[in-house]
Amino acid sequence: MLYDDNPTLVGIDKKIDEARQGEALFWEEQTPGAERRKRFYIESYGCQMNFSDSEIVASVLAAEGFAPTRILEESDLILINTCSIREKAEETVRKRLRIFDQVKRKRPGVLVGVLGCMAERLKKKFLEEEKLVDIVVGPDAYRDLPALVAGAEEGEKGINVFLSREETYADISPLRLDGNGVSAFISIMRGCDNMCSFCVVPYTRGRERSRDAFSIVAEATELFERGYREVTLLGQNVDSYKWLNPETEKTVSFAELLEMTALVHPDLRVRFSTSHPKDMTDEVLHTMARHENICKYIHLPVQSGNSRVLGLMNRTYDREWYLGRIEAIERILPGCAISSDIITGFCTETEAEHQDTLSMMQRANYSMSYMFAYSERPGTPAAKKYADDVPEEVKKRRLNEVIRLQNQISLRHNQADIGKTFKVLIEGDSKRSELEFKGRNTQNKVVVFPKAPGLAPGSYAQVRIHTVTGATLIGEIVA
Ligand code: SAH
Ligand code: SF4
Ligand code: F3S
Repeated sequence: MLYDDNPTLVGIDKKIDEARQGEALFWEEQTPGAERRKRFYIESYGCQMNFSDSEIVASVLAAEGFAPTRILEESDLILINTCSIREKAEETVRKRLRIFDQVKRKRPGVLVGVLGCMAERLKKKFLEEEKLVDIVVGPDAYRDLPALVAGAEEGEKGINVFLSREETYADISPLRLDGNGVSAFISIMRGCDNMCSFCVVPYTRGRERSRDAFSIVAEATELFERGYREVTLLGQNVDSYKWLNPETEKTVSFAELLEMTALVHPDLRVRFSTSHPKDMTDEVLHTMARHENICKYIHLPVQSGNSRVLGLMNRTYDREWYLGRIEAIERILPGCAISSDIITGFCTETEAEHQDTLSMMQRANYSMSYMFAYSERPGTPAAKKYADDVPEEVKKRRLNEVIRLQNQISLRHNQADIGKTFKVLIEGDSKRSELEFKGRNTQNKVVVFPKAPGLAPGSYAQVRIHTVTGATLIGEIVA
């Protein structure tokens, strides 16, 4: 899963909190008569799945006549879509609730709703612990939001944390919030059936289920027609996507879905996240090789480079299996970039086992990684079975070693691109200057270059790289 669109690798966890998390999301077009309607404000934390869910929530509320606002102080309904993945993510949400409390004191009648994974994890406890919260809604209950809001307006606190085996929101067209108009996320499945011992997601998101393949392709087609040029197919484990077509009684696999989406239009780029090493098939890699518009970038979280630790994590693959997957990517998709998620200081991890993670990073040559110190989550198998026995300062020191190494590898990875020419999809202005565009190449690397006439966000440019940093490629347009 993606956490940040242009991460600075140093102190990644902190950066995510500051940059990506807690972004308030807003409608891209203003609706007529919006000023007369009840207004909602929504803030999202966590993975892209949550950001994507906020667009479903916005769509559900808009259908009930609510209009969006970017101004917290003028909203009638404040929503926070929450994440439970690490303790820090939950602390951030509680801090935000203190701020909402102040708004509520000034404007009685304002409702506060907690959505997402933390709502699911804490359920009723939320209403008991956080007196200001009026509504608690889990990830599968967003259709019920208008009814819960109506109840809360009558003074009745509302909660729905029912987890579904079927809900995929397939028929709800998300309201694209605050996008760049070029790239969009499409949820293709929900939940997770893996039981990685450290992870809270199976408890907060429920059972894995796949969305109707035709509704996914229809959404991609509609986005393309509206000018979007890139879609990212989202799921906690996209490789286990499996949808039974009720008409033909045949199942559509992830490789097939990928191909169907790639065929929408050759100018529509297709990305996906996240791949699980145990399920990523050669068929997916061959499908990627056949279609130029399926981006040559795979997020393949390793978590640890040591087989014993992977066993304790219940990742169901070992170091050798993972190396085999890396070799398959290199063989079938030369030049494909690979990125990772890494956890340091998992229960009982030794210094030598930590070294295995470092050597794995070298071998896999990750273009980037999301790196975390292990954070015990209540109720997970690891919390029940293993002692969280690696001291905090050791976890942090190992994390810093991992970050330092990834910075070196990223820089080396980017240096190898100097002199190369890439097809870049332009996303908008660069952060630094209005005279420069920012876009991405197929490997998902951010490319910055001086603007030229006739180019706009959504168009492709051929850019030759002359300078790099650890996070960005800098170049010039070539004719
Ligand atoms: N479905 C994805 C990951 C989703 S969670 C996958 O299987 O790869 C995103 C990342 O958060 C994980 O890959 C893991 O690196 C990290 N993470 C999850 N639980 C964690 C915990 N308890 N402590 C620290 N990091 C954690
Ligand atoms: Fe969590 Fe594992 Fe599922 Fe990823 S695959 S969401 S880490 S349980
Ligand atoms: Fe995503 Fe956080 Fe939930 S990472 S699935 S929002 S626990």
